[in-house]
Amino acid sequence: MGGHGHHVGRARSEKHHLGSLLDWAAQQHPGSQVTHTWSAQDYMAVNLMPFFGKLPRGKGHVYFGTGYNKWGMTNAVAASLGIAADILGGHVPWANTIHHRITSPSGALSAVSLNAGVAAKLASGWGQLAAEGLKTEGGKVLKKDKDQLPPAPAPVVPDEGQGQVYREGTRPVAVSTVDGTTCKLSAVCTHLGGIVHWNDSERTWDCPLHGSRFSNEGELLEGPATRNLPPAGKA
Ligand code: FES
Repeated sequence: MGGHGHHVGRARSEKHHLGSLLDWAAQQHPGSQVTHTWSAQDYMAVNLMPFFGKLPRGKGHVYFGTGYNKWGMTNAVAASLGIAADILGGHVPWANTIHHRITSPSGALSAVSLNAGVAAKLASGWGQLAAEGLKTEGGKVLKKDKDQLPPAPAPVVPDEGQGQVYREGTRPVAVSTVDGTTCKLSAVCTHLGGIVHWNDSERTWDCPLHGSRFSNEGELLEGPATRNLPPAGKA
């Protein structure tokens, strides 16, 4: 059973999605037994075509494949065949379509609306902090207005399996409790400064801007970020 697709880091509660999927499964197949549940994260191109080839600005030496669009088990194999042929001088006729990709008008529109969504998420994540008394611009804290600052919060210790983002001084902080251990991290994604969101099903910190994901301890799980979330106070 699968469903409830959504952008990484933008669901209110991933656990809720999973629960409703399990309810639906139980209705369709009474008496069936749940053995495993998981989420997959997929990269999709705006024109929904997978892509592989030479990496732009890679000086012709770096090849890549992406945008498998939920079909990684087949598209990744196709990409590996195509890349191997490119390197070894072979020719796979079906790869021409992928090599000469054209962005259609609808694809270009999708890209515009996708980027508008990213900008909106960046603004809303930092906007919540601004509402708490910080002045921000383009994801950067400009200055704090001491008169507007609310009193320092009591130490935040979320319930088991929960995470919370709040402001400590001028710093956005992400705190979670997993298996009895509470970790306090910087809530600012190390890619381009999005404010991370707690994934209550996978128990990870997910960035709503471009989909980077971090463990509850801040370890990088998935890019485009390349660095861990540092402990709070070291960002
Ligand atoms: S800002 Fe977080 S993934 Fe880009």
